[in-house]
This record gives sequence, structure tokens and C-alpha cells, in this order.
Amino acid sequence: MTVPDPTPRVAEFERRAYGMFLHWGLYSQLGRGEWILHLDNDLIHEEYEGLAETFTAEAFDGRKIASLAKAAGMKYAVLTARHHDGFSLYDTRGLTDYDAPNSAAGRDLVREFVDGCHAEGIEPFLYHTTLDWHRDSHECSPGEFDEYVDFLHDSLEVLLAEYDLGGIWFDGDWSRDDDWRLDERYALVREHQPEAIVVNNTGIGNEGEVSHPEVDSVTFEQREPDPVNREGMDKYVAAEMCQTMNGHWGIGERDFDYKSPGDIIETLATCRARGANYLLNVGPTAEGAIPEYETAALRRAGEWVELHDDVIYDGRPVDCETPGRDAVLEADDDLYYLAFDLSVSGHEDVTVRGDGTGPRTIVGLDREVTVARWVDSDEGIRVLQSDDADLTTLDCTGYPYGTNTVVRVAELDA
Ligand code: GLC
Repeated sequence: MTVPDPTPRVAEFERRAYGMFLHWGLYSQLGRGEWILHLDNDLIHEEYEGLAETFTAEAFDGRKIASLAKAAGMKYAVLTARHHDGFSLYDTRGLTDYDAPNSAAGRDLVREFVDGCHAEGIEPFLYHTTLDWHRDSHECSPGEFDEYVDFLHDSLEVLLAEYDLGGIWFDGDWSRDDDWRLDERYALVREHQPEAIVVNNTGIGNEGEVSHPEVDSVTFEQREPDPVNREGMDKYVAAEMCQTMNGHWGIGERDFDYKSPGDIIETLATCRARGANYLLNVGPTAEGAIPEYETAALRRAGEWVELHDDVIYDGRPVDCETPGRDAVLEADDDLYYLAFDLSVSGHEDVTVRGDGTGPRTIVGLDREVTVARWVDSDEGIRVLQSDDADLTTLDCTGYPYGTNTVVRVAELDA
């Protein structure tokens, strides 16, 4: 059985590697996550809808968001054009008045996002819900559901005709086992944006599933991806992991459980080692600003990405066995070894000693390696190899005192 080649757009999407997810909407004013309308039984729908009157978007700046994404080393960004609460950040052109131009903002926020991304060289993607609590899509009768799908398609038609997108990210088909008329939906996408990447989130529990032949990438929500087995597939699909920066997609003001820059680096490296993209979420404030912690963490991890840009964007996994989370990637005929959990060398009275220095053995690399060096310091690494190149051992020295790049990258001359 053979593995199909990726289409040029899917190959380009894979090289984009790292993206920013943005969950922002009326719920951001409540600061308790994007599902609060559904989960807080005391929250009356009419009251929630009234939040449109105070949704000023006064700190929302598409260009600034895109420029942060760029500094973070991200190459695309995905904004929730409409989430499950049914409120649209785009101008629905009269389809509904539950949208940003009819809110206190009085502006088309998706337009500002898309323009900001284009100005900064970030590929704009839009998330669009299919589950709509505002229209009871999850519990209405079959006849009503069919009408709802008409409305959904009309909404998508507006979106797809108006904005030049790198991709569209659907979410919510898991809310109802019914006829979503997917052929029609995807035909709409292809009619207006033939080169857009199509993602449809299969949700927690169904990670990595190909839900329809038009889908360009499978999803791994909130967990590190498995390598995708593409043998015998009709079409090559990319893979993408999406993850929250704390435990919520929409801002959680009382959620302190944040990922660190080190966590972000490890997850990004692991995604790339499994051949997947990493889509990391931020939840903007009620007014639309990216919170300080998120900004700082993204910038800090971005410095690491800049140091390792060759392997992060172009690196593809090489099939071999490595210890722990370590991995070998190949980019433009160069091989890279990613070493996790290395300790800092120095003096035992001052450095926190991990157990992570010393030899690490790669099994089944089957390529002759003569020289290796750490990308961060240019220091050479001792290499030992069996005659048949089945066993390759790198004598992984610890970080020089004063440094710790979390995932240390070695370039191997093969
Ligand atoms: C889930 C949630 C949702 C979030 C999405 C992102 O499916 O329903 O709130 O937008 O995951 O992956």
C-alpha cells in the first residue's frame, strides 16, 4: 500500500507548522469560558444576548494580534467568526442582527482580523461553529434542523464570499447525529475558496478521524497527536493539535492553570516530531486585547522557535526509535535530533541536576552520521555508530551553565 502525496496546499499548511487560535465573543465579557451560556443554568438567554450591547471591542486590533502571532513564530491564526453561542464577529449582511456590526462595536471584526493578518504575512483562518445554542440546533426537530442547516449555509456563503482565507475550521458536527449535508457545505467552500484548508474538528474522543473526503487536516483536541497512518488513503491529510493556554478556550479569569513557555516548546516540538501542526489558543479579554501572560509566554517561546526555524517549519519526522520524547526530523536533507529533559551542567551547589545528560541511542536510523553539533551553542557532540548504522549514539552533553533551551536541537551531518 502506498502513501498519497500531499496537495501543494496541504504541504504548505504543514510548513506553516504553528498557529494562534483565538476564542473571543460575547462570553469573553463574563470571563468564565466559552461554554458558560450552556453550562450556567442561571444564565437566561435574553440576558446573555444583551451582552451584545456592551461588546465594545475597543481593544481589538487585528494587526496587533497578527504581529504578536508573528513574533511568536506562528504562521497562521484562527479566529472564532461564530462560536456555539451563535453570535457572529462578522457582518452577516442582514441574515441576522446578532452580529458585531449590530453590537456596541458597530464594526466588522472579522474584516479587521483578516486585514491585519494579511498585512503581517499571517495566513487568516476562520473557525465557524455548526452547533448553535441560539437557534437550538442541537435539540430542534428534524424539520427545524434542516432549516437551520439552510441558515448555516447562507452564513457560510457570506463568509466565504467576503474574506480571503487560508482556511476554514468547522466545529460542532459532533453535537448532533444527523444529516449535516456536508457535500453541500464543502461544495460551498470549494466554489468560493478552492485553495482554503478545510478542517472539521472531530472533538475529544475522536481524534485523528477523517470525517469526509474534503477535509484537509485531522484534529487532535487537547492532546498530543499520534502519527497518522496514511497508507492506502485516497488523499493525504495533514494533522493539527489544538490546545488551550490554560484550561479554557474563552478567557477564564479565575483559571490560573497556565502552560509555561517550556511546556509550549515541548508540545510544539512533539507535534512536529509526529508530523503535526500545533494550534495554540489565547482567549482575548472582554475588550479584545490579548492578556499579558499569554503575550509574554508566546513571545518567549517565539525566541526558541526563531533559534530553530529550519527544523520547526520544514522538519518532517524520520522513522526510527529514540529514547523518551526525543525524535529525529529531516529538513532539506539535514537531520536533526531533538533532545528532551537535558540537565544544565555546572556546579552541584548551584545547578538543579536532572538525570538527563549522557548517551542517547537512536535505533534504525540507517544513515551514516559522522558529525553532530548543538544548534544553540555550535558545540560538537561525540557520535558513535555501529557499522550497519542501525545504532547511533549521541553523547548528549548538558546545557552550558547559563542556558536551558528545554528541547535541545542537534544538527547531524548524514
Ligand atoms: C470544543 C469546544 C469548543 C472549542 C473547540 C476548540 O469542541 O466545543 O468550545 O471551540 O473545542 O477545539
